[in-house]
Amino acid sequence: MPVVSYASVSDSPPMVAVACNPDGFTCKLAQRAGSFSLSVLDREYLTAMGRLATVSGAKVKDKLRDAGLEHGRGSVLNVPVVKVSSATLECKLRSRKRTGDHLLLVAEVRAARSRGAFTDSWDYAQYKPLLYTGWKGGMTTYPGA
Ligand SMILES: Cc1cc2nc3c(=O)[nH]c(=O)nc-3n(C[C@H](O)[C@H](O)[C@H](O)COP(=O)(O)O)c2cc1C
Repeated sequence: MPVVSYASVSDSPPMVAVACNPDGFTCKLAQRAGSFSLSVLDREYLTAMGRLATVSGAKVKDKLRDAGLEHGRGSVLNVPVVKVSSATLECKLRSRKRTGDHLLLVAEVRAARSRGAFTDSWDYAQYKPLLYTGWKGGMTTYPGA
């Protein structure tokens, strides 16, 4: 599922946090598996991202493939990894906390991978981030460079 953001919450060990709707399919799946992956997608996958936001994984056999995103297994954890992602984090769930109507999932990053667009920092000539600007019958993103 698309998430509005993830936060870095520890350097050592490396930890990240995401807020997810506890009734959501992905949230339930991540808790049951005790792990999940985070994928950073380029703007060219805007349409796929829109589909991931509107189709629930509870309704289709393979939601990523349904959205046109091939996936494989993580290098360290048994998590689905989007093959075309610009960067991927493989995350082991460490704790969860109810934050209002969402659940904050805190996870340790067990493996990280990036494509050529990231060396010491992002090369924005190669990587065009998806910057959410609202919903107009689908995802919209900032069209600038
Ligand atoms: C830009 C954007 C950001 C979103 N951020 C979150 C989020 O941070 N947490 C969340 O639970 N859902 C978020 N959603 C909604 C889920 O992506 C959406 O409900 C999704 O279809 C859930 O899929 P699932 O039923 O397969 O889990 C976001 C949707 C969009 C379009």
